[in-house]
Amino acid sequence: MTENTDAKMAEAILRLKEQRKAIILAHNYQLGEIQDIADFVGDSLELSQKAAKTDADVIVFCGVHFMAETAYILSPDKTVLLPDINAGCPMANMVTVEGLRQRKRELPGAIVVCYINSSAAVKAESDVCCTSANAVKVIESLDAEDILFVPDQYLGDYVSTKTDKRVIPWPGFCPTHIRIQPQHITNLRQEYPQARVVVHPECRPEVIALADEVLSTGGMCRFARETEHEEIIVGTEVGMIHRLRKENPGKRFIPASEQAICPRMKLITLESVLWSLQEMTPEVKVPEETRLKAKVAVDKMLEIGRG
Ligand code: 13P
Ligand code: SF4
Repeated sequence: MTENTDAKMAEAILRLKEQRKAIILAHNYQLGEIQDIADFVGDSLELSQKAAKTDADVIVFCGVHFMAETAYILSPDKTVLLPDINAGCPMANMVTVEGLRQRKRELPGAIVVCYINSSAAVKAESDVCCTSANAVKVIESLDAEDILFVPDQYLGDYVSTKTDKRVIPWPGFCPTHIRIQPQHITNLRQEYPQARVVVHPECRPEVIALADEVLSTGGMCRFARETEHEEIIVGTEVGMIHRLRKENPGKRFIPASEQAICPRMKLITLESVLWSLQEMTPEVKVPEETRLKAKVAVDKMLEIGRG
């Protein structure tokens, strides 16, 4: 696609967005051109907060399926569009309702905390939801000692190092973040000895152990803005680098691994956003009974806020 075509498509999207009274929400891992046309770019927590508050008629969610579902859970009176319905999160699919029910039977008395990277149906089976920005705070707020944490084992492991509660992780993982290896960090530290290392808590524990900061993608944006350090090694999905460079032109951002790409996030393109706004499809909805149960878990999280 030429720059000219991209610019024309971006213009057409913005025109149609006004006509439809739509808001475009984009996750920090989206392609640069999508971030650039979005009304708001953020992490999962910030995007849910925006989705809960917007007065737009239509939410165009540039992210993955569970994010659009969460927007619908919070704002069922809006049309929620996910420009490519195949944009799912493989980690979210690693826990099913049946599997979770079985595990709950094995662990009576445990409170179920589900990472927002889960389906609405799994949220409906959980007591409270969390994101990487508030997982520790959510768990610390609970009046229980045993926590079944689904579906990310590495976020679960990380949280267990920050609390005295017993965190029992589900064996899910993010196929993108596990591509970041300890060797990537040690090599880059040698190359950039002055750099700070920030990583996402979905990384393996061996990678987390080598980091200076463990942050959600929104936390990384804040850290980059506030730190005096001028070089930052970034251990998360590579889409993050676009926003960090745009907001901090004087600083240098080095991806921990160029291989850390989330292919499903990259399914959302200018073309698919334009088509989605034209056709008002694909719409994401959640059956009302599931939505109401899932909303209890999501609302509890929103009350707790950022960690
Ligand atoms: P954040 O909530 O930190 O943006 O993470 C979402 C995600 O899917 C990470 O892989
Ligand atoms: Fe899911 Fe990983 Fe992609 Fe995040 S980066 S949406 S956890 S597959």
